[in-house]
Amino acid sequence: MAEANEQNNFQARDVALEQIAKRLGVRAERGRRFAELTSLRVGGAIDWVLSPETEAQAAALVDEMDQVGIGWRALGSGSNILADDGDHHYVVLSLKELKGELDFDGERVSVPAGYSLPRLCIDVARQGLSGIEGLGGIPGTVGGALWMNAGAYGHEIGTVTETVRVARKGDVIEIPGSDVQWNYRHTSFREGELLLGATLRLTPDDPEKIRARMEEAKSRRMATQPHGSRSAGCFFKNPPEGSLGTGRIIDELGMKGSRRGSALVSPVHANFIVTEGEGARAEDALALAEEVRERVKREHGIELEYEVELWRANEAKNKPEPDDETGELTRKE
Ligand code: EPU
Repeated sequence: MAEANEQNNFQARDVALEQIAKRLGVRAERGRRFAELTSLRVGGAIDWVLSPETEAQAAALVDEMDQVGIGWRALGSGSNILADDGDHHYVVLSLKELKGELDFDGERVSVPAGYSLPRLCIDVARQGLSGIEGLGGIPGTVGGALWMNAGAYGHEIGTVTETVRVARKGDVIEIPGSDVQWNYRHTSFREGELLLGATLRLTPDDPEKIRARMEEAKSRRMATQPHGSRSAGCFFKNPPEGSLGTGRIIDELGMKGSRRGSALVSPVHANFIVTEGEGARAEDALALAEEVRERVKREHGIELEYEVELWRANEAKNKPEPDDETGELTRKE
């Protein structure tokens, strides 16, 4: 009975979604899997993937979904996410098509959330603008970088963010960067909030010098981190200052190369978990991560915090609630 009800709810949701996507002219796909959409190449089926192309379209879309109670999550390039192997019954709002163009105004650059972060770093360096060259090799989108305050080699995106554009009640609104808390790989943005773009304020410098610093960061990254393998970057946060870094701790425990099925601790950098093979399982990566956490807890008394986001299929993403009488999804005014 409960199962039949849930089935009906999803059918009503699907009808509503088709109408919304059609009305707004947004591409809507079914049958995609997280294994195709994340850099770890693991994770189960997704009910719907919707891909808005403009900031206004994306803002209207989430408003319509929120009004009828359709659960969604925003996805950039999926380079910091471990989605589990279950069936994910919510909408993935892919922001990869929201890439638009850069808009330069003196020291400022406005960039949409779906723009590639490495490309942005190259483009601003060319314009003689400094402040994000350390982020050059991070394989993500600008939206993802803002969401988690991406950082590397002395640069963090939050430091140079003058304003962020977010979706509110169907509109694109701009909030000052100073209203956001930019912490270590964490910000005050909350689930349900959609980031659409940002304006960064950078510092003029000689393009050649910026490029040289970017190359320097890139070669350090190439020498110390795995490239060409399937990872989500550093898996755990570093512990608070004063203790060794996570990579060093795991390395000294001799865990490089430790394996659980299709997942292993990278032999290059011990804070990277990489996956291998067709049909790799999120379950393996999670089991290995927990094994690492237990060892570190036992031997150092440190509770490692995940730096990657864990997306669980069974975490209720406000399931659609149809009207009791009509069975239709109703608008919440
Ligand atoms: N180390 C080891 N063994 C290892 C890995 C590292 O001994 O397997 C040692 C290194 O030799 C070095 C120290 O640990 O002495 C620090 O290593 P690294 O320079 O690689 O920096 P990290 O603290 O491990 C952080 C960020 C990276 C970022 C780099 C460069 C975190 C969790 N990680 O790594 O960010 O690229 O600094 O700025 O903050 C990410 O966010 O996904 C990420 C990879």
